[in-house]
Amino acid sequence: MTQLLNGKVALITGGAGRLGRATAEIFLREGASVVLADINAESVRRVNGELEKIYPGKLAAVSGDQSQPDDVVRFISEAEQALGLPDILVNTHGIFPNCPLLEVSVEEWDSVFAVNTRGTMLTCQAIARRWIDAGVKGSIVNISSGAARSGRPGGGHYSGSKAAVEIMTHIFATELGPHGIRVNAVAPGLVLDNVMTEESDDAHPYVNLTLRGTPIGRTGSAGDIGEAVAFLASGRSEWTTGAILEVTGGTHCGRTHMPLTRQLR
Ligand SMILES: NC(=O)c1ccc[n+]([C@@H]2O[C@H](COP(=O)([O-])OP(=O)(O)OC[C@H]3O[C@@H](n4cnc5c(N)ncnc54)[C@H](O)[C@@H]3O)[C@@H](O)[C@H]2O)c1
Repeated sequence: MTQLLNGKVALITGGAGRLGRATAEIFLREGASVVLADINAESVRRVNGELEKIYPGKLAAVSGDQSQPDDVVRFISEAEQALGLPDILVNTHGIFPNCPLLEVSVEEWDSVFAVNTRGTMLTCQAIARRWIDAGVKGSIVNISSGAARSGRPGGGHYSGSKAAVEIMTHIFATELGPHGIRVNAVAPGLVLDNVMTEESDDAHPYVNLTLRGTPIGRTGSAGDIGEAVAFLASGRSEWTTGAILEVTGGTHCGRTHMPLTRQLR
């Protein structure tokens, strides 16, 4: 079977994280070269080293703080020097603290928006400027969250930051479409390191509750998200832009905890 991303170069932010690494593995399997970017220089070098053993010569690692414009411009330039100008950008960096709105401090509020929202805007902006100069018809995939459109206690800043990522995805799509650049997003549901198919006494009650409300009957894996990202990054979705693809096992379809019965009372 033809590889989905043969000959492409992808920059993946949050590349040392769960979704970043899994997405990189899928991109490499599909024939792309990958530059991993992360604020955690040590972790990103380690992940790079581990994947290099399987895909020699197909990877590079860069580091910097996604929320800082100078860092972003620098690491995009380093990525270009290492493997050539990327034609795919995937924004998987992010932070997700939980804090009630009555308690959240201005610093905590701002830090979530600085990393998740401004950080996503900065990589999109910097790479799109390079693409327009170089005539590259690139593809961007942002990672949002099911939380962007579904409120939960403690998620005020996080949900807000991801809702902003989604509308920004639409707006970048409208502004960059005329340059042949596509911008989409994937909104994941609950992704854990180990997929759960059954409730467990060891799991957080929130995780058990989410599992009970998941029509597909399991929590997500990082690979579930990476596969969706690969499709949106590839030419197979060439008429898709401004889309937000929910990959949640169905948890965000509605009130999935309601009993399936003719008689509710
Ligand atoms: N795991 C889930 O269940 C889930 C669900 C919905 C959405 N998401 C979103 O998916 C993305 C990835 O989540 P994950 O589970 O892989 O998390 P993760 O913590 O494993 O990875 C996130 C990565 O982002 C990096 N990062 C954090 N701040 C940064 C900064 N200022 N600059 C550069 N890099 C920075 C971290 O070092 C880390 O490697 C996040 O945006 C998260 O909000 C995750």
